[in-house]
Amino acid sequence: MNIVTVNTQPIDGQKPGTSGLRKRTPVFQGRHYLENFIQAIWTAVGGVEGRTLVVGGDGRYFNTQAIQVVLRMAAAGGATRVIVGQDGILSTPAASHLIRKRKAFGGIILSASHNPGGPDGDFGVKFNASNGGPAPESLTAKMFEATKAITEYRILEAHDVDLSTLGEQSLGTMAVEVVDPVADYAELMESLFDFEAIASLFADGFTLRFDAMHAVTGPYARAILEDRLGAARGSVVNGTPLPDFGQGHPDPNPIWARDLMDLMMGPDAPDFGAASDGDGDRNMIVGRGIYVTPSDSLAALAANATVVPAYAGGLKGIARSMPTSAAADRVAEKLGIACYETPTGWKFFGNLLDAGRVTICGEESAGTGSDHVREKDGLWAVLFWLNILAAKRISVAELMEEHWRTYGRNYYSRHDYEGIPTEGANALMDGLRAKLADLPGTKVGGLVVSQADEFAYDDPVDGSRSEGQGIRIHFDGGARVVFRLSGTGTEGATLRVYLEFFDPVTMTMDAQVALAPVIAAAEAIAGIKAHTGRDAPDVIT
Ligand code: G6P
Ligand code: ZN
Repeated sequence: MNIVTVNTQPIDGQKPGTSGLRKRTPVFQGRHYLENFIQAIWTAVGGVEGRTLVVGGDGRYFNTQAIQVVLRMAAAGGATRVIVGQDGILSTPAASHLIRKRKAFGGIILSASHNPGGPDGDFGVKFNASNGGPAPESLTAKMFEATKAITEYRILEAHDVDLSTLGEQSLGTMAVEVVDPVADYAELMESLFDFEAIASLFADGFTLRFDAMHAVTGPYARAILEDRLGAARGSVVNGTPLPDFGQGHPDPNPIWARDLMDLMMGPDAPDFGAASDGDGDRNMIVGRGIYVTPSDSLAALAANATVVPAYAGGLKGIARSMPTSAAADRVAEKLGIACYETPTGWKFFGNLLDAGRVTICGEESAGTGSDHVREKDGLWAVLFWLNILAAKRISVAELMEEHWRTYGRNYYSRHDYEGIPTEGANALMDGLRAKLADLPGTKVGGLVVSQADEFAYDDPVDGSRSEGQGIRIHFDGGARVVFRLSGTGTEGATLRVYLEFFDPVTMTMDAQVALAPVIAAAEAIAGIKAHTGRDAPDVIT
């Protein structure tokens, strides 16, 4: 087997976004596209010689072909060992866990998360470091620099590795270890949660539907929820990972997981509903007749964490992304622990987790997780909820009502305007920037602006600063609107408008009704309709 050096040249646009490099699948299939980016990763991390890596993906179209390329390039780079999930499958949290457990140098995760897959869908590549977490901005910046300077890449000439057979093979001088993608992860979950209590909840007739959305969590959910915990067979639906996710959009929110929502709001609802995304790091939690926003979920988990064995000693702190509601802040305040506000993107939690400043983190974008790995973790969140319900023996609705009675309710919603022209999106953001200084004290609709700024984050651990992380406008009384352009899209721009309204007394209003004044203020301040050319958002979560 020969290592060949292939001449190449920089390809435009290989800049990692919120979560790695994400492009249309045909772009990744283009000549040298994947190879250039992998070589740039090797350059940015100082080479992989003598290193152990973890590789796996969410099973989407092009996953196994890409893995073969990564393996041959790891071998060419002198890596000693690559641990890869059977059939190329590893959920993102399972990959994070494997990197940590096996003390690997890092890992390559092939996924475009919740974006659709298939020949016309999206594909993505990201590098996670030895802590199991997504590469920090300093490292992704180096990758981008390397993509702009690349002149050649190195790859081993070899046949495909057999990814279907468990055990060890060799690729040149490198060992390739094919592992069961579920086993280690399931063991980790069992070490965190009270599986006995959850199993007895199911034994007492508790019903569940988990929608794996034809994506990666199917095998994990079946093994853990049905096989180990005794949820009824068939509780996990859409449980076989498909390369195109069954033509679906594997994003667990009320729009894309509509079947589950309809079931949970209807007369035949089970006790608990949940869904996860393409690569298994997002989650959606629904009780009978009640959707739990990700922001509320974070707050509820934090407030009840001590019933879970792994968190029985209490939480060190909580972190949430800036656009996430302040519901978790109220819990942190009551518990007397710190609450950190970070930019959007799980990578910003890494330092806080590594430094032991926080135990639990969450994002409004359906991400929740803890210091057990360095990614958000969909099934972990589901098990956390089940553990709480098993310990307290109350319904999701009862738990949330109790929570709101204690802390007040942060009504919350996100309005997305997808695939809008980039110029319009930039003009809207520039327009906002220009008026930030004049907004405080002005009255918009019935709301008075108390503060307006563009969010910048100073990492308290490594001192790095991240600017331009979203425009936030606070109103008297705890209402807020945040404007931010998505960093994960592949076409045009996506404007996200994050809306929040705090009500200490009224618990049961419809969120869109409660938020009406904030929605009106957002339009008045930003001119959303004029800049986007849209009458209404494409997605409301
Ligand atoms: C990915 C990241 C999350 C982030 C989300 C939002 O899922 O892992 O940490 O919150 O993207 O991305 P966007 O930039 O599209 O709002
Ligand atoms: Zn994801």
